[in-house]
Amino acid sequence: MAQNWTPNSWRQKPIQQVPDYPDAAALVATEEQLATFPPLVFAGEARRLTSALGNVAEGKGFLLQGGDCAESFAEHGADTIRDFFRAFLQMAVVLTFGAQLPVVKVGRIAGQFAKPRSSNVEKQGEVTLPSYRGDIINGIEFTEEARVPNPERQIMAYRQSAATLNLLRAFAMGGYANLENVHQWMLGFVKDSPQGERYRKLAHRISETMDFMKAIGISAENNSSLRETDFFTSHEALLLGYEQALTRVDSTSGDWYATSGHMIWIGDRTRQPDHAHIEYCRGIKNPIGLKCGPSLTADGLLELIDILNPANESGRLTLICRFGHDKVAENLPRLIRAVEREGKKVVWSCDPMHGNTITLNNYKTRPFERVLSEVESFFQIHRSEGTHPGGIHVEMTGKDVTECTGGARALSGDDLADRYHTHCDPRLNADQALELAFLLAERMKGGRDEKRMVVNA
Ligand code: TRP
Ligand code: MN
Repeated sequence: MAQNWTPNSWRQKPIQQVPDYPDAAALVATEEQLATFPPLVFAGEARRLTSALGNVAEGKGFLLQGGDCAESFAEHGADTIRDFFRAFLQMAVVLTFGAQLPVVKVGRIAGQFAKPRSSNVEKQGEVTLPSYRGDIINGIEFTEEARVPNPERQIMAYRQSAATLNLLRAFAMGGYANLENVHQWMLGFVKDSPQGERYRKLAHRISETMDFMKAIGISAENNSSLRETDFFTSHEALLLGYEQALTRVDSTSGDWYATSGHMIWIGDRTRQPDHAHIEYCRGIKNPIGLKCGPSLTADGLLELIDILNPANESGRLTLICRFGHDKVAENLPRLIRAVEREGKKVVWSCDPMHGNTITLNNYKTRPFERVLSEVESFFQIHRSEGTHPGGIHVEMTGKDVTECTGGARALSGDDLADRYHTHCDPRLNADQALELAFLLAERMKGGRDEKRMVVNA
């Protein structure tokens, strides 16, 4: 167990991004109540995720992590969850079949409610109010009342997470994710979608493969791996009072686990080595993500790795790189070299979203070409460094939104107003997400074929 660590030792450290709750007693009462609630996930599941990520760290798998920038109370419906899950499964199947690697599936969902902000206040015209910090803290409406942090929202977020997770588990284990449904995941896909046709072809090949396997005696009926999928949840562990209340001892191992989700990550703004967020995360045994932006030095990274993963356990730590399409070439190689030199075991994942946000027609948006370009560079750099480009971390939705420009449909700045629904950052729509998955599958397959040719030469 981590030295001198308790679930509340983070309270002794400096902390960033804390909401200003006016009623301290109400906050304490809420945290005490949360601490009596059942855990959302089980420690054994988190261990299984660590071991699956361990495979990824060793180059034998790929991590697909994605979902909303921020979940919201207003959009808590079965359709939203199903549409997300369907788009996510489509991406996963494209990656699995195309790249011929197992794909570890981790949603940014069932707990992704708290948002770090660059400013404590938001100004509209003459009015200045506290910033929106995510539905778990305050309301998005630009009114004085909505923006007051309210602890009751933590209870709402907990209950919404439980309901969301319940439906996702049912989908993953109860038949929806059955590979025999690979054609049905097309439903609801826009008819003339450019990715639709491509996906249909791939789904057809999968069905043929399944028919062949059935003929030789392997079917979804007698083989659970065709019928079910492991789906995990993740979110940024930003609101530490909430996280602490859901931190529990696992009775089988005696270790502490965050039970608010399977994997949690630390944001680029809250990764100071001697501050509260790192302190909290070092003591729990879940797999941890660390966002790495341009300001992270190689020594800074090594220091964080030593704090977060002193035993150098494979699968414990995922480095989620978010540099920006024009900064990745300058920043990624130095981090890779430092990690390799010290023999640290990590999963390298690429977040091509957060470094590529621009403002267009007063909308925050992300040009899809820049997203693709950051991913391309990420793969290229790993190939030339001889390391494994292990995963991708994206903000996406199953809905047909118009939040990121570009893609096969060439959404323009003028289209943004049509269906711009995000509560926070712009997300890839289902079409764009699938296009990205196809590109990734090609790159990964290319990388492997190249290696095979070298071996055979
Ligand atoms: N169980 C395997 C996996 O999760 C195969 C599988 C079943 C699958 N349903 C899936 C793969 C849906 C991708 C999408 O990888
Ligand atoms: Mn975001």
